[in-house]
Amino acid sequence: MANRSDDQWNRPLRDLRISVIDRCNFRCRYCMPEEIFGHDYPFLPKEKILTFAEITRLSRIFVSLGVTKLRITGGEPLLRKDLSSLIHSLTQLDGVEDIAMTTNGVFLPKYAASLREAGLKRVTVSLDSLNDDRFRRMNGGRSSVKAVLEGIEAAAQVGMQVKINMVVQKGFNDQDIVPMADYFQKKKHILRFVEFMDVGNTNGWKLDQVVSKQQIIETIHKHMLLEPVSPQYKGEVATRYRYLDRDGEIGIISSVTDAFCSTCTRARISAEGSLYTCLFASKGYKLRTMLRSEQTDDEIRSYIEHVWRGRTDRYSEERLTHTKQASSKIEMSHIGG
Ligand code: GTP
Ligand code: 5AD
Ligand code: SF4
Ligand code: SF4
Repeated sequence: MANRSDDQWNRPLRDLRISVIDRCNFRCRYCMPEEIFGHDYPFLPKEKILTFAEITRLSRIFVSLGVTKLRITGGEPLLRKDLSSLIHSLTQLDGVEDIAMTTNGVFLPKYAASLREAGLKRVTVSLDSLNDDRFRRMNGGRSSVKAVLEGIEAAAQVGMQVKINMVVQKGFNDQDIVPMADYFQKKKHILRFVEFMDVGNTNGWKLDQVVSKQQIIETIHKHMLLEPVSPQYKGEVATRYRYLDRDGEIGIISSVTDAFCSTCTRARISAEGSLYTCLFASKGYKLRTMLRSEQTDDEIRSYIEHVWRGRTDRYSEERLTHTKQASSKIEMSHIGG
Protein backbone atom coordinates (compact mmCIF):
# COMPACT_ATOMS: atom_id res chain seq x y z
CA MET A 1 0.00 0.00 0.00
CA ALA A 2 1.25 3.48 -0.81
CA ASN A 3 2.44 5.51 2.15
CA ARG A 4 2.48 9.29 2.23
CA SER A 5 6.26 9.24 2.60
CA ASP A 6 6.79 7.03 -0.46
CA ASP A 7 8.17 8.44 -3.69
CA GLN A 8 6.25 8.99 -6.93
CA TRP A 9 6.48 5.27 -7.81
CA ASN A 10 5.39 4.18 -4.31
CA ARG A 11 8.89 3.23 -3.24
CA PRO A 12 9.65 3.71 0.45
CA LEU A 13 12.97 5.02 1.76
CA ARG A 14 14.78 2.12 3.42
CA ASP A 15 18.51 2.24 2.68
CA LEU A 16 21.05 4.97 3.11
CA ARG A 17 24.43 4.64 1.41
CA ILE A 18 26.96 7.08 2.83
CA SER A 19 30.21 7.98 1.10
CA VAL A 20 32.74 9.07 3.71
CA ILE A 21 35.56 10.11 1.35
CA ASP A 22 36.08 10.69 -2.38
CA ARG A 23 39.70 9.47 -2.42
CA CYS A 24 40.85 5.97 -3.17
CA ASN A 25 44.19 4.17 -3.24
CA PHE A 26 43.06 2.29 -6.39
CA ARG A 27 42.45 3.65 -9.86
CA CYS A 28 39.96 1.14 -11.26
CA ARG A 29 39.40 1.89 -14.93
CA TYR A 30 35.64 1.68 -14.61
CA CYS A 31 35.51 4.07 -11.65
CA MET A 32 38.52 6.41 -11.32
CA PRO A 33 40.64 6.07 -14.47
CA GLU A 34 44.22 7.18 -13.86
CA GLU A 35 44.25 9.58 -16.85
CA ILE A 36 41.52 11.65 -15.21
CA PHE A 37 42.10 11.04 -11.51
CA GLY A 38 45.81 11.93 -11.68
CA HIS A 39 48.03 13.47 -9.00
CA ASP A 40 46.58 16.94 -9.62
CA TYR A 41 42.93 15.85 -9.45
CA PRO A 42 40.98 18.25 -7.20
CA PHE A 43 39.77 15.93 -4.46
CA LEU A 44 37.56 17.46 -1.81
CA PRO A 45 39.31 19.49 0.87
CA LYS A 46 38.67 18.28 4.41
CA GLU A 47 36.26 21.08 5.30
CA LYS A 48 33.91 20.10 2.47
CA ILE A 49 33.58 16.53 3.70
CA LEU A 50 30.95 15.73 6.31
CA THR A 51 32.29 15.17 9.81
CA PHE A 52 31.37 12.00 11.70
CA ALA A 53 29.06 14.04 13.92
CA GLU A 54 27.26 15.36 10.82
CA ILE A 55 27.00 11.87 9.30
CA THR A 56 25.59 10.48 12.53
CA ARG A 57 23.08 13.32 12.83
CA LEU A 58 21.96 12.83 9.22
CA SER A 59 21.70 9.07 9.69
CA ARG A 60 19.48 9.59 12.71
CA ILE A 61 17.23 11.81 10.63
CA PHE A 62 17.09 9.26 7.81
CA VAL A 63 16.29 6.48 10.28
CA SER A 64 13.36 8.54 11.52
CA LEU A 65 12.13 8.54 7.91
CA GLY A 66 12.20 4.75 7.62
CA VAL A 67 15.80 3.82 6.86
CA THR A 68 16.90 0.57 8.51
CA LYS A 69 19.98 -0.28 6.46
CA LEU A 70 23.19 1.73 6.26
CA ARG A 71 26.16 1.17 3.98
CA ILE A 72 29.47 3.00 4.29
CA THR A 73 31.24 3.61 0.99
CA GLY A 74 33.88 5.87 -0.56
CA GLY A 75 36.14 6.18 -2.55
CA GLU A 76 37.87 3.86 -0.15
CA PRO A 77 36.21 4.33 3.24
CA LEU A 78 39.18 2.96 5.17
CA LEU A 79 41.24 5.96 4.05
CA ARG A 80 39.09 7.99 6.42
CA LYS A 81 40.84 8.29 9.76
CA ASP A 82 39.29 6.45 12.70
CA LEU A 83 36.36 5.05 10.72
CA SER A 84 35.62 2.59 13.52
CA SER A 85 34.43 5.45 15.71
CA LEU A 86 31.82 6.36 13.10
CA ILE A 87 30.71 2.73 12.91
CA HIS A 88 30.35 2.69 16.66
CA SER A 89 28.17 5.82 16.65
CA LEU A 90 25.96 4.41 13.90
CA THR A 91 25.43 1.13 15.76
CA GLN A 92 24.03 3.19 18.65
CA LEU A 93 21.15 4.56 16.56
CA ASP A 94 17.80 3.00 17.40
CA GLY A 95 16.16 1.52 14.33
CA VAL A 96 19.32 0.59 12.42
CA GLU A 97 19.09 -3.12 11.61
CA ASP A 98 22.08 -3.55 9.35
CA ILE A 99 25.36 -1.75 8.74
CA ALA A 100 27.72 -2.81 5.97
CA MET A 101 30.74 -1.35 4.27
CA THR A 102 32.08 -1.57 0.72
CA THR A 103 35.89 -1.58 0.52
CA ASN A 104 38.71 -2.64 -1.78
CA GLY A 105 39.99 -4.69 1.14
CA VAL A 106 43.62 -3.63 1.23
CA PHE A 107 43.40 -1.98 4.66
CA LEU A 108 41.34 -4.71 6.29
CA PRO A 109 44.35 -6.50 7.81
CA LYS A 110 45.01 -3.24 9.67
CA TYR A 111 41.45 -2.36 10.65
CA ALA A 112 39.28 -5.50 10.67
CA ALA A 113 39.60 -6.10 14.41
CA SER A 114 38.72 -2.53 15.42
CA LEU A 115 35.84 -2.39 12.94
CA ARG A 116 34.43 -5.63 14.31
CA GLU A 117 34.83 -4.37 17.84
CA ALA A 118 32.99 -1.19 16.87
CA GLY A 119 30.06 -3.35 15.75
CA LEU A 120 30.56 -3.90 12.02
CA LYS A 121 29.29 -7.38 11.17
CA ARG A 122 29.74 -7.49 7.42
CA VAL A 123 31.83 -6.10 4.59
CA THR A 124 31.72 -6.29 0.82
CA VAL A 125 35.12 -6.46 -0.81
CA SER A 126 35.61 -5.59 -4.48
CA LEU A 127 37.84 -7.99 -6.40
CA ASP A 128 37.73 -8.36 -10.17
CA SER A 129 40.20 -11.17 -10.87
CA LEU A 130 42.45 -13.75 -9.26
CA ASN A 131 45.00 -13.19 -11.99
CA ASP A 132 47.52 -10.61 -10.89
CA ASP A 133 48.17 -9.10 -14.35
CA ARG A 134 44.51 -8.66 -15.13
CA PHE A 135 43.68 -7.37 -11.66
CA ARG A 136 46.47 -4.78 -11.84
CA ARG A 137 45.30 -3.74 -15.28
CA MET A 138 41.84 -3.13 -13.87
CA ASN A 139 42.90 -1.34 -10.67
CA GLY A 140 45.43 0.99 -12.28
CA GLY A 141 48.43 -1.00 -11.08
CA ARG A 142 47.68 -0.25 -7.43
CA SER A 143 47.30 -3.64 -5.80
CA SER A 144 48.13 -7.30 -6.03
CA VAL A 145 45.47 -9.98 -5.70
CA LYS A 146 47.28 -11.22 -2.60
CA ALA A 147 46.79 -7.94 -0.73
CA VAL A 148 43.03 -8.11 -1.25
CA LEU A 149 42.82 -11.81 -0.37
CA GLU A 150 44.64 -11.03 2.88
CA GLY A 151 42.06 -8.34 3.60
CA ILE A 152 39.21 -10.79 2.97
CA GLU A 153 40.87 -13.31 5.25
CA ALA A 154 41.36 -10.71 8.00
CA ALA A 155 37.68 -9.78 7.92
CA ALA A 156 36.59 -13.43 7.98
CA GLN A 157 39.01 -14.15 10.84
CA VAL A 158 37.37 -11.58 13.11
CA GLY A 159 33.96 -13.05 12.33
CA MET A 160 32.60 -10.66 9.75
CA GLN A 161 30.42 -11.91 6.93
CA VAL A 162 32.26 -11.17 3.68
CA LYS A 163 30.72 -10.75 0.25
CA ILE A 164 32.78 -10.19 -2.87
CA ASN A 165 31.84 -7.88 -5.77
CA MET A 166 33.34 -8.60 -9.16
CA VAL A 167 32.67 -6.06 -11.90
CA VAL A 168 32.69 -7.98 -15.18
CA GLN A 169 34.00 -6.12 -18.20
CA LYS A 170 34.20 -7.84 -21.56
CA GLY A 171 37.75 -8.10 -22.86
CA PHE A 172 39.21 -7.42 -19.42
CA ASN A 173 38.15 -10.12 -16.99
CA ASP A 174 35.38 -12.23 -18.49
CA GLN A 175 37.69 -15.25 -18.41
CA ASP A 176 37.79 -14.89 -14.61
CA ILE A 177 34.10 -15.63 -14.02
CA VAL A 178 34.52 -19.36 -13.46
CA PRO A 179 37.82 -19.25 -11.47
CA MET A 180 36.31 -16.59 -9.18
CA ALA A 181 33.09 -18.59 -8.69
CA ASP A 182 35.07 -21.72 -7.92
CA TYR A 183 37.47 -20.01 -5.52
CA PHE A 184 34.83 -18.20 -3.47
CA GLN A 185 32.51 -21.21 -3.38
CA LYS A 186 35.35 -23.06 -1.68
CA LYS A 187 36.04 -20.11 0.62
CA LYS A 188 32.32 -19.94 1.47
CA HIS A 189 31.95 -16.26 0.61
CA ILE A 190 29.08 -15.03 -1.55
CA LEU A 191 30.42 -13.71 -4.84
CA ARG A 192 28.34 -11.19 -6.75
CA PHE A 193 28.96 -10.47 -10.40
CA VAL A 194 28.25 -6.84 -11.25
CA GLU A 195 27.39 -5.82 -14.80
CA PHE A 196 29.67 -2.99 -15.94
CA MET A 197 27.64 0.21 -15.53
CA ASP A 198 27.76 3.68 -17.05
CA VAL A 199 28.22 5.46 -13.74
CA GLY A 200 29.94 8.83 -13.76
CA ASN A 201 31.22 10.51 -16.89
CA THR A 202 34.72 9.17 -17.26
CA ASN A 203 34.76 5.41 -17.65
CA GLY A 204 34.11 5.32 -21.40
CA TRP A 205 31.20 2.91 -20.95
CA LYS A 206 30.01 1.01 -24.00
CA LEU A 207 27.17 -1.47 -24.06
CA ASP A 208 29.32 -4.01 -25.89
CA GLN A 209 31.65 -4.21 -22.88
CA VAL A 210 28.83 -5.41 -20.67
CA VAL A 211 28.68 -9.12 -19.93
CA SER A 212 25.00 -9.75 -19.30
CA LYS A 213 23.45 -11.63 -16.42
CA GLN A 214 22.36 -14.29 -18.90
CA GLN A 215 25.88 -14.71 -20.26
CA ILE A 216 27.34 -14.93 -16.75
CA ILE A 217 24.86 -17.66 -15.77
CA GLU A 218 25.51 -19.61 -18.97
CA THR A 219 29.27 -19.38 -18.44
CA ILE A 220 29.08 -20.75 -14.90
CA HIS A 221 26.50 -23.34 -15.88
CA LYS A 222 29.00 -25.06 -18.16
CA HIS A 223 31.02 -25.93 -15.04
CA MET A 224 28.66 -25.82 -12.07
CA LEU A 225 24.88 -26.13 -12.06
CA LEU A 226 22.83 -23.32 -10.55
CA GLU A 227 19.22 -22.76 -9.56
CA PRO A 228 17.50 -19.47 -8.70
CA VAL A 229 16.85 -18.57 -5.05
CA SER A 230 14.11 -16.16 -4.02
CA PRO A 231 15.16 -12.73 -2.75
CA GLN A 232 16.00 -12.32 0.94
CA TYR A 233 14.16 -9.02 1.04
CA LYS A 234 11.99 -6.98 -1.31
CA GLY A 235 14.15 -4.92 -3.59
CA GLU A 236 17.30 -6.99 -3.16
CA VAL A 237 19.88 -5.68 -5.60
CA ALA A 238 21.42 -9.02 -6.49
CA THR A 239 19.49 -11.88 -8.13
CA ARG A 240 20.54 -14.96 -6.18
CA TYR A 241 21.42 -18.45 -7.39
CA ARG A 242 22.63 -21.49 -5.49
CA TYR A 243 24.79 -24.37 -6.61
CA LEU A 244 22.90 -27.58 -7.19
CA ASP A 245 25.73 -29.97 -6.44
CA ARG A 246 27.62 -28.13 -3.71
CA ASP A 247 27.10 -25.56 -0.96
CA GLY A 248 27.06 -21.88 -1.61
CA GLU A 249 25.40 -19.19 -3.67
CA ILE A 250 26.24 -16.35 -6.01
CA GLY A 251 24.48 -13.13 -6.91
CA ILE A 252 24.22 -11.17 -10.13
CA ILE A 253 23.69 -7.43 -10.16
CA SER A 254 22.13 -6.74 -13.52
CA SER A 255 21.57 -3.04 -13.55
CA VAL A 256 22.01 -2.95 -17.34
CA THR A 257 20.17 -5.97 -18.73
CA ASP A 258 17.57 -6.53 -16.02
CA ALA A 259 17.11 -3.32 -14.04
CA PHE A 260 15.64 -3.26 -10.55
CA CYS A 261 14.49 0.36 -10.24
CA SER A 262 10.87 -0.54 -9.51
CA THR A 263 11.87 -1.68 -6.02
CA CYS A 264 14.69 0.80 -5.40
CA THR A 265 14.55 2.09 -1.84
CA ARG A 266 18.06 3.59 -1.78
CA ALA A 267 19.17 7.12 -1.03
CA ARG A 268 22.79 8.18 -1.23
CA ILE A 269 24.83 10.82 0.53
CA SER A 270 27.96 11.93 -1.27
CA ALA A 271 31.20 12.65 0.59
CA GLU A 272 30.45 16.38 0.35
CA GLY A 273 27.07 15.89 1.98
CA SER A 274 24.62 16.03 -0.92
CA LEU A 275 21.63 13.76 -1.19
CA TYR A 276 21.22 11.79 -4.43
CA THR A 277 18.07 9.86 -5.16
CA CYS A 278 19.71 7.71 -7.85
CA LEU A 279 23.17 6.34 -8.57
CA PHE A 280 22.98 8.04 -11.95
CA ALA A 281 21.61 11.37 -10.80
CA SER A 282 23.03 14.63 -12.08
CA LYS A 283 21.46 16.72 -9.35
CA GLY A 284 22.25 16.47 -5.65
CA TYR A 285 20.42 18.19 -2.80
CA LYS A 286 22.91 20.03 -0.62
CA LEU A 287 22.43 18.89 2.94
CA ARG A 288 25.82 20.08 4.20
CA THR A 289 24.78 23.71 4.08
CA MET A 290 21.65 22.85 6.04
CA LEU A 291 23.64 20.88 8.62
CA ARG A 292 25.98 23.82 9.07
CA SER A 293 23.20 26.38 9.43
CA GLU A 294 20.76 26.91 12.26
CA GLN A 295 18.24 24.45 10.85
CA THR A 296 16.73 21.94 13.24
CA ASP A 297 16.56 18.18 12.74
CA ASP A 298 12.84 18.54 12.01
CA GLU A 299 13.47 21.09 9.29
CA ILE A 300 16.11 18.91 7.65
CA ARG A 301 13.85 15.90 8.01
CA SER A 302 10.98 17.68 6.26
CA TYR A 303 13.26 18.73 3.44
CA ILE A 304 14.54 15.17 2.88
CA GLU A 305 10.99 13.83 3.03
CA HIS A 306 9.92 16.41 0.45
CA VAL A 307 12.79 15.42 -1.87
CA TRP A 308 12.05 11.71 -1.52
CA ARG A 309 8.32 12.20 -2.15
CA GLY A 310 9.10 13.97 -5.39
CA ARG A 311 11.48 11.22 -6.55
CA THR A 312 10.83 9.74 -10.00
CA ASP A 313 14.26 8.22 -10.78
CA ARG A 314 14.48 4.97 -12.70
CA TYR A 315 17.57 5.50 -14.76
CA SER A 316 18.47 1.86 -15.34
CA GLU A 317 15.01 0.99 -16.60
CA GLU A 318 15.21 3.81 -19.10
CA ARG A 319 18.90 3.52 -20.01
CA LEU A 320 18.59 1.47 -23.15
CA THR A 321 15.85 3.61 -24.60
CA HIS A 322 17.93 6.77 -24.21
CA THR A 323 19.89 7.74 -27.26
CA LYS A 324 22.14 10.09 -25.31
CA GLN A 325 23.63 9.49 -21.88
CA ALA A 326 22.63 11.91 -19.15
CA SER A 327 24.99 14.81 -18.86
CA SER A 328 27.29 15.24 -15.91
CA LYS A 329 26.30 12.39 -13.64
CA ILE A 330 27.69 12.16 -10.13
CA GLU A 331 31.02 10.29 -10.05
CA MET A 332 31.12 6.84 -8.42
CA SER A 333 34.01 7.98 -6.22
CA HIS A 334 31.77 10.63 -4.62
CA ILE A 335 28.80 8.38 -4.15
CA GLY A 336 30.32 4.94 -3.65
CA GLY A 337 28.09 2.80 -5.85
P1 GTP B 1 23.72 -6.29 0.29
O1 GTP B 1 23.28 -5.32 1.32
O2 GTP B 1 24.81 -7.16 0.77
O3 GTP B 1 22.61 -7.02 -0.38
O4 GTP B 1 24.49 -5.37 -0.79
P2 GTP B 1 23.96 -4.63 -2.04
O5 GTP B 1 23.23 -5.61 -2.87
O6 GTP B 1 23.32 -3.36 -1.68
O7 GTP B 1 25.27 -4.42 -2.88
P3 GTP B 1 26.54 -3.51 -2.86
O8 GTP B 1 26.36 -2.34 -2.00
O9 GTP B 1 27.70 -4.39 -2.63
O10 GTP B 1 26.53 -3.08 -4.36
C1 GTP B 1 26.87 -3.99 -5.35
C2 GTP B 1 26.85 -3.33 -6.69
O11 GTP B 1 25.53 -3.00 -7.04
C3 GTP B 1 27.68 -2.05 -6.78
O12 GTP B 1 28.37 -2.02 -7.98
C4 GTP B 1 26.66 -1.00 -6.71
O13 GTP B 1 27.06 0.15 -7.41
C5 GTP B 1 25.47 -1.66 -7.39
N1 GTP B 1 24.25 -1.09 -6.86
C6 GTP B 1 23.86 -1.04 -5.56
N2 GTP B 1 22.71 -0.40 -5.45
C7 GTP B 1 22.36 -0.02 -6.70
C8 GTP B 1 21.28 0.71 -7.24
O14 GTP B 1 20.40 1.16 -6.53
N3 GTP B 1 21.27 0.91 -8.58
C9 GTP B 1 22.22 0.44 -9.37
N4 GTP B 1 22.11 0.67 -10.66
N5 GTP B 1 23.26 -0.26 -8.92
C10 GTP B 1 23.33 -0.46 -7.60
N1 5AD C 1 30.13 -0.59 -12.98
C1 5AD C 1 29.81 -1.54 -12.08
N2 5AD C 1 30.27 -1.56 -10.81
C2 5AD C 1 31.10 -0.59 -10.46
N3 5AD C 1 31.74 -0.36 -9.30
C3 5AD C 1 32.47 0.77 -9.42
N4 5AD C 1 32.33 1.28 -10.66
C4 5AD C 1 31.49 0.43 -11.34
C5 5AD C 1 30.97 0.39 -12.64
N5 5AD C 1 31.27 1.32 -13.55
C6 5AD C 1 31.64 -1.24 -8.14
C7 5AD C 1 32.91 -1.46 -7.40
C8 5AD C 1 32.41 -1.78 -6.01
C9 5AD C 1 31.06 -1.16 -5.94
C10 5AD C 1 30.90 -0.11 -4.95
O1 5AD C 1 30.79 -0.65 -7.20
O2 5AD C 1 33.68 -2.50 -7.87
O3 5AD C 1 32.32 -3.15 -5.80
FE1 SF4 D 1 38.45 2.73 -5.56
FE2 SF4 D 1 36.33 1.13 -5.46
FE3 SF4 D 1 36.51 3.04 -7.33
FE4 SF4 D 1 38.12 0.94 -7.46
S1 SF4 D 1 35.87 0.90 -7.63
S2 SF4 D 1 38.72 3.09 -7.74
S3 SF4 D 1 38.48 0.50 -5.33
S4 SF4 D 1 36.34 3.37 -5.13
FE1 SF4 E 1 17.72 2.98 -8.00
FE2 SF4 E 1 18.66 4.66 -9.82
FE3 SF4 E 1 19.77 2.23 -9.46
FE4 SF4 E 1 17.35 2.48 -10.59
S1 SF4 E 1 19.28 3.21 -11.42
S2 SF4 E 1 17.97 0.99 -9.02
S3 SF4 E 1 16.51 4.21 -9.43
S4 SF4 E 1 19.71 3.92 -7.99
